[in-house]
Amino acid sequence: MTRLRKVVFPVAGMGTRFLPATKVVAKEMLPVLDRPLIQYAVDEAVDAGADTLVFVTNRYKHAIEDYFDSAYELEETLERAGKHELLALVQGLLPKHVRCVYVTQQQALGLGHAVLCARAVIGDEPFGIILPDDLIVNDGPSALRQMAERAADGNTGVLAVEEVPRADTAKYGIVDIEAGGDRIRHTVEKPKPEDAPSNLAVVGRYVLPPRIFDLLEQTTPGAGGEIQLTDAIAALLKEVPVLAHRFAGTRFDCGNKAGMVRATLHFAGADPTLRHLVAGLAAG
Ligand code: UTP
Repeated sequence: MTRLRKVVFPVAGMGTRFLPATKVVAKEMLPVLDRPLIQYAVDEAVDAGADTLVFVTNRYKHAIEDYFDSAYELEETLERAGKHELLALVQGLLPKHVRCVYVTQQQALGLGHAVLCARAVIGDEPFGIILPDDLIVNDGPSALRQMAERAADGNTGVLAVEEVPRADTAKYGIVDIEAGGDRIRHTVEKPKPEDAPSNLAVVGRYVLPPRIFDLLEQTTPGAGGEIQLTDAIAALLKEVPVLAHRFAGTRFDCGNKAGMVRATLHFAGADPTLRHLVAGLAAG
């Protein structure tokens, strides 16, 4: 197992699919019930053993930093009002041993570029990446923790993959894996169904060795003029084993409205005070 001390959250995208809300609210601050997406992502990183959370942000995303900062006035008001449960809630967003580091991506030049912005903080050790809009829930070890357990040493890459309908391959990076194993031979970005080597799609969790930074430095803009993480991973898997991990858990793609609604219904269905609403909807 690889000890993942550091996890990167690239959160400097524009979030255009949630405009107009994302004109002022960072996509990662949109709530699923009462918790913002970023909270679910951070909980997963902490479960995987992280003590350093690296947020790649931009000037519009101050709310994320504010959210994890202490809120003196609010805390004092809650204290004076004797609202101890709420106080514990707002003070307990992060365990005490965990620290946050904020790095700016000055221009949205792509996911690969966002990850490269974290290089100085990560240094020379393996690290995790979580895209918070892929919300993954399960009862056991988190998806990122499962992946850290798969990475036998600090030099193995692990990508979370999920089977998707053949018709949807053009929305994802698709992996081609060796027969009878999990080692990725190559990845194809958004192939048409007839060209896709499989129906295993890469989703928003990665465990990567620091070598990826050198490869990102050498990566030229690809699809959409952006520096793509997938292009650097394509170079990485020629050098070291990169495994496809079919995670245990359910993924909600909260980068779009349908996924956000599904995630909300999932958590509402698990909440004793809201369950009846979901049952009522199902009954029509
Ligand atoms: P998306 O492709 O989901 O883009 O980025 P987006 O801007 O977040 O949302 P839409 O498509 O406009 O609605 C995938 C991840 O990469 C990050 C995003 O924040 C998201 O977590 N990202 C993307 C960056 O941090 N910087 C970039 O330059 C691009």
